Amino acid sequence: MPFTFTVATGSVDRVAADLLAVPVGTAPAPTSPKRGSDAPARVLGPGADALDDALGGDLVAFLDEVGFEGKLGEAIAVPTGGKLRAKAALVVGVGDPAELTPDGLRRAAAAVARRASKVTSVATTLAAAATELSDADAAQAVAEGIELGAYQFLEYKRDPKPSKLAKVTLIGGGPGVRAAVARGSAIATAVRWARDLVNTPSKEKPPAEIAAEARALMRGRGVSVQVFDPAQIRQKKLGGVIGVGQGSAQTPRFLKLTYAPTGARGKPLALVGKGVVFDSGGLSLKPAGGMETMKCDMSGAAAVLAAMSALKDLGVKAKVTGYVPLVENMPSGTAIRPGDVLRIRNGKTVEVLNTDAEGRLILADALSLAVEDKPAAIVDLATLTGACVVALGDKIAGLMGNHEGWQSQVRDAADRVGERVWPLPLPPDYRRGIDSAVADIKNTGPREGGTLTAGLFLQEFVGDVPWVHLDIAGPAFLSGDDGYITKGGTGFGVRTLLELASTFAAPKD
Ligand code: BES
Ligand code: MN
Ligand code: ZN
Repeated sequence: MPFTFTVATGSVDRVAADLLAVPVGTAPAPTSPKRGSDAPARVLGPGADALDDALGGDLVAFLDEVGFEGKLGEAIAVPTGGKLRAKAALVVGVGDPAELTPDGLRRAAAAVARRASKVTSVATTLAAAATELSDADAAQAVAEGIELGAYQFLEYKRDPKPSKLAKVTLIGGGPGVRAAVARGSAIATAVRWARDLVNTPSKEKPPAEIAAEARALMRGRGVSVQVFDPAQIRQKKLGGVIGVGQGSAQTPRFLKLTYAPTGARGKPLALVGKGVVFDSGGLSLKPAGGMETMKCDMSGAAAVLAAMSALKDLGVKAKVTGYVPLVENMPSGTAIRPGDVLRIRNGKTVEVLNTDAEGRLILADALSLAVEDKPAAIVDLATLTGACVVALGDKIAGLMGNHEGWQSQVRDAADRVGERVWPLPLPPDYRRGIDSAVADIKNTGPREGGTLTAGLFLQEFVGDVPWVHLDIAGPAFLSGDDGYITKGGTGFGVRTLLELASTFAAPKD
């Protein structure tokens, strides 16, 4: 449930709320270490001083008693002594206020959201804790952290216990704070939509259903949606989509989305997202364990759809197009077989040696279509290879591409929003790893460097358009909560795409 955010100015004792959340930080690390110094000095942040006064100095004594240091991620509930309008308080650690980043604020805000799940209203001075951030940037981060940290997926619980938190007051105004909170809330709403779609069981999200949901989602949001049904997919010669989809009783769809705000000039930014609603591996069947999380194999598609739905709210000036192939990868009597050859939209032929390397087949068609529309640049997001999870773990996406400048633009955007990406190479000499004896290219290479050969495969379909590929197999789906990132579908990529679109400038040749 989205929150009602209010911005209030004035002192904490004037604001009514069930819970008052105030920051406590740590003093900067001393430049010269003192002999055997104890814990770093604590700094009472905005509002925490007032709480200490209300408690007659007992707050500091209490924090000493329980060993609360003020480190980022700490949080402890305390009473307010009946002297404030809030019934209870939450002391939130923020670390060194001068080092506090938007990501740190999102984490601290998520801790507030989680601790406040049993009350309906929270007021917080958290945004004012960061001494080096603008009021607007800090407020946006707090709004995002609260909404993302409070996320729960309860659709299938018989007796759900949803968080009661509904109203959040940010104490401390400043220029642009209201707009920044609205911005943060719009971004978080998009991320939450992506999480919901990823968390939805595959049975409930066949390609046709996602297409219908995308249409409904984009209504009134400045995005036009074209849905290609199986006949149109055949007519457009999307051989990869047809091949991967042919084993499932759920027929494929292909979505093309267009955002072209009035006055936008120049070529569009093209977004491509892998939409495998379930990846069984096909006839190259995955082992049972490998299938458990494969409802997440449409996370790239979810990120593209969610991001496109928020472009208008965020006032994005650039044109943005989206290309989303949706299929289910299943084994059956009609399934594609190892050894079969597919002809992709751009005319290249692919020998399918492993039906579990299906993502690249549908992306090949999507990238081909994107290139035909002559975009300024392309980003694709895909849960593409288990090898990328081996290389970078489950918190970091692999970033590959054919254009240094565009790769930097995407990496910088991801860094700014706190989505972790790391560059991987596309070594030209590895290309021979996907040479085929019978077709132009084959869909698997050597086991070693599997993420790179997957990237090299995609590169065959982008021509010379600046292109970045994000392999999000790790961070798209988590087994446990981590700050404002919640377990299950994470919505990874949505915030990077929105940052990229908001600041988009065509990469230079
Ligand atoms: N969807 C999987 C990749 C994946 C693995 C995503 C784990 C998220 C978590 C992809 O379609 C796949 O099966 N890739 C194969 C490629 C191989 C057959 C060349 C893989 O990684 O094993
Ligand atoms: Mn697969
Ligand atoms: Zn897959």
